Amino acid sequence: MSNLLSAEQVRADFAKIFGVEADHTFFSPGRINLIGEHTDYNGGHVFPAAISLGTYGAARKRDDQLLRFFSGNFEEKGIIEMSLENLHFEPEHNWTNYPKGVLHFLQEAGHTIDRGMDVYVYGNIPNGSGLSSSASLELLTGVIAEKLFDLQLERLDLVKIGKLTENEFIGVNSGIMDQFAIGIGAGQRAIYLDTNTLEYDLVPLDLKDNVVVIMNTNKRRELADSKYNERRAECEKAVEELNRKLSIATLGELDEWAFDEYSYLIEDENRLKRSRHAVLENQRTLQARAALQAGNLDKFGRLMNASHVSLEHDYEVTGLELDTLVHTAWEQKGVLGARMTGAGFGGCAIALVRKDAVDTFKENVGRKYQEVVGYAPSFYIAEVAGGSRVLD
Ligand code: GLA
Repeated sequence: MSNLLSAEQVRADFAKIFGVEADHTFFSPGRINLIGEHTDYNGGHVFPAAISLGTYGAARKRDDQLLRFFSGNFEEKGIIEMSLENLHFEPEHNWTNYPKGVLHFLQEAGHTIDRGMDVYVYGNIPNGSGLSSSASLELLTGVIAEKLFDLQLERLDLVKIGKLTENEFIGVNSGIMDQFAIGIGAGQRAIYLDTNTLEYDLVPLDLKDNVVVIMNTNKRRELADSKYNERRAECEKAVEELNRKLSIATLGELDEWAFDEYSYLIEDENRLKRSRHAVLENQRTLQARAALQAGNLDKFGRLMNASHVSLEHDYEVTGLELDTLVHTAWEQKGVLGARMTGAGFGGCAIALVRKDAVDTFKENVGRKYQEVVGYAPSFYIAEVAGGSRVLD
């Protein structure tokens, strides 16, 4: 993957902006999700991996109470400044609301952050691509504060604080998958997580002669937040209806047979489709882990395809751009499977492709997408990377 920065470059950029040396440099990855989509707020399983595209940071502790932030991605915004006493959401503080939220919740959890900081960040996750640039920035802030203020934190605490920031500071009602993948990620491992218990396994990602190709629609995830919250509400309402006879907290508690038996209780076709996706996708994720562990990548690929079909027709979160990429990918030689990844409504899809077929794959999928959609997609090879960390 291009665009990898070194700690020295990030240090140099920090020094240019703030005129002093940084104390430390940091990196926080983005993520892809292999399978298990829209299951994390339904008490199901997810199977994401952290990737080497992510957010770099450099930071220095100050002697006063000032927080000063600069992003290499939004240079025109200059240094955004506030006092440590003012950790409230403010629209004009723009992207810095993410780090502000994390610092706020760290303080609220009783951690001492009593001095300001200068913070430089630069991310190479493509904008609006659905590879979790926001969770990446949240966890980056977490590891910066942990290092500079010598906080005693479990990694899971940081993951939860990232999610809290997203839900309660930013106002997006997301599940825990993104922060978990980014905080806990490990090189060459995918994370098999039960979002109900937070038990997880790091599963070796042995793809043999294949790679994961990320296909970016280059369509921003418009309406993603309102549609996302709508899907969540539909699933919650279906649980209420099922609970006229059952006693479940989430759809993740049901297997396909239990769901089938009680599905007559769901009174609306959309809710039936949404909940069917949540239940079956969870089962597919269990099967996908088993297939990966058995080295059965053909089956793993078919489960990816099935996941997309369900997201397209039952959960209805794909759209022309994602469907064009994925359907075209299915027709190519050397492709084991393909599906959208992340929230949907634009953003990225992934395909499991034989290494020697990747060039032709990109050419063919790129050409068809351009014809149908009118502009080009982008492609990246996913390198599975470690979680948020100090660089030096
Ligand atoms: C977004 C959310 C995640 C998850 C996915 C869909 O990435 O942030 O919590 O719900 O969508 O699987």
